Amino acid sequence: MRTKIVAGNWKMNKTLPEAVALIEALKNNIQPDKTVEVIIAPAYVNLPKAVELLQDFPIAVSAQNMHFADHGAYTGEISADMLKAIGVDTVILGHSERRAYFNETDDVLQKKAQKAYEKNMTNIFCVGEQLEDRTKGRHFEVVKNQLSKALFDLPLQAYKKIVIAYEPVWAIGTGQTASPEQAQEMHRFIRETLAQKYGRDLANHVRILYGGSVKPANASEIFSQPDVDGGLIGGASLNAEDFNAIVTAAKS
Ligand code: 13P
Repeated sequence: MRTKIVAGNWKMNKTLPEAVALIEALKNNIQPDKTVEVIIAPAYVNLPKAVELLQDFPIAVSAQNMHFADHGAYTGEISADMLKAIGVDTVILGHSERRAYFNETDDVLQKKAQKAYEKNMTNIFCVGEQLEDRTKGRHFEVVKNQLSKALFDLPLQAYKKIVIAYEPVWAIGTGQTASPEQAQEMHRFIRETLAQKYGRDLANHVRILYGGSVKPANASEIFSQPDVDGGLIGGASLNAEDFNAIVTAAKS
């Protein structure tokens, strides 16, 4: 049995007072239980406060990105050690918005994934095809390439701390979700790809989240697919009631 995960990626939303209000609302709304892990990923500047407010509450705090270097002349960047020093040991890597707007290549992501492993951080690693890839029928190939280029030189034990998030780019923020069948088909493919590389046992243990316009209305159907182990939620994670409803949908 894989414990489901519902993670909220807040992206570039919420000032500090707004973040505090949302976290307080989540604490009033959400009743985490043993069947689902809940994670939120606020902006960097709001992470210390999020950690403080959630110290005794079972919602984990994640960063949305980090640099691969330990320190140095990388103006505007944040290192793994900086995150760990404030109590954050989870990071989202390879989000399609980072790939598209900040030129994050497979090569850079390989270094970031390596750093997350070295630093014993949980790596929520995002993959997903563009609309054109899907219409041209190359979505499996694209996702396999993203996985293998960034993750497949990591040793087997690294996967204890890797969560894959399948986020088809055409479904992000568009209100258009992958159908449950499309999600299941890709999640199964990802699991098979992991099985071929690392063996069936490992593949059966890795959590694979779906992301892309998950809402309270469609969460249950998507989460009920056998290879979907929860979700990475954007827009709907900014509203406590909606996020709570999605967490509830993941409970078993
Ligand atoms: P939306 O849920 O807003 O489509 O965003 C998904 C996402 O990108 C989460 O990382």
